[in-house]
Amino acid sequence: MIRKETKRVTVREGYDLWAGTYDRTPNPVVAMDSRHTLHLLDPKPGEKILDAGCGTGRNLARISKAGANPYGLDFSFGMLRVAKKNVPSVPVVQADLQAELPFRSAQFSAALCALIGEHIEKLAFTLSQLWKALQPGGWLVFSVYHPDLAEAGKEANFQLGHTEYRLGAIRYTTSDYLELTWAAGFREIRSFEYRADQQLVDQIPSASELLEKPVIFALKAKRPH
Ligand SMILES: C[S@@+](CC[C@H](N)C(=O)[O-])C[C@H]1O[C@@H](n2cnc3c(N)ncnc32)[C@H](O)[C@@H]1O
Repeated sequence: MIRKETKRVTVREGYDLWAGTYDRTPNPVVAMDSRHTLHLLDPKPGEKILDAGCGTGRNLARISKAGANPYGLDFSFGMLRVAKKNVPSVPVVQADLQAELPFRSAQFSAALCALIGEHIEKLAFTLSQLWKALQPGGWLVFSVYHPDLAEAGKEANFQLGHTEYRLGAIRYTTSDYLELTWAAGFREIRSFEYRADQQLVDQIPSASELLEKPVIFALKAKRPH
């Protein structure tokens, strides 16, 4: 019998290792986010949109298709390499969301931060950097793996060979996300919760254990004028 090993890695190591198979990993959280979050962002032709933590470019491609001008940022070279293959025409930059962002202030019409929250320890700082990067009147759309899932002990993980890699999850609550967004200066904050349904189970049968449970928590918030 082959024994499966479990390994804890840092978030950055984890995504570097996962990059090559990430897009092929059936993932109910990604599937639910794909269904809902871009509708909240509602990208418009000509808008300059930051995808903070763009990963393999899943949303860069869709933002671009809507006629907007996406700009990707991620700290994993592995994920960015795949993004560059998936959407070669979209500019991307390697940077850490927990450090000063490499942009002039107020240059994006909107910012998307999808499925990263539970990895960010310095979330107050990251949100203030996104606030600064947005033009006054610009919208932030921030989606996360629902805190109930983190609370139930679920975390980002994947398998390579006989090893299961675990990336950890900071246990923010929905109130933490709302309060930190307000404290960073955002206003007109609206929140959304998306639950697993039969459509998801038809797409990814292993998601049946999540049926009716909240999978995605998302916020839409404005940098005021
Ligand atoms: C679950 S993936 C989501 C990718 C993409 N947003 C999507 O929804 O398909 C999380 C991404 O966040 C990136 N990430 C995590 N922490 C980060 C940080 N501190 N700075 C920049 N990127 C980060 C990871 O490298 C990874 O690509």
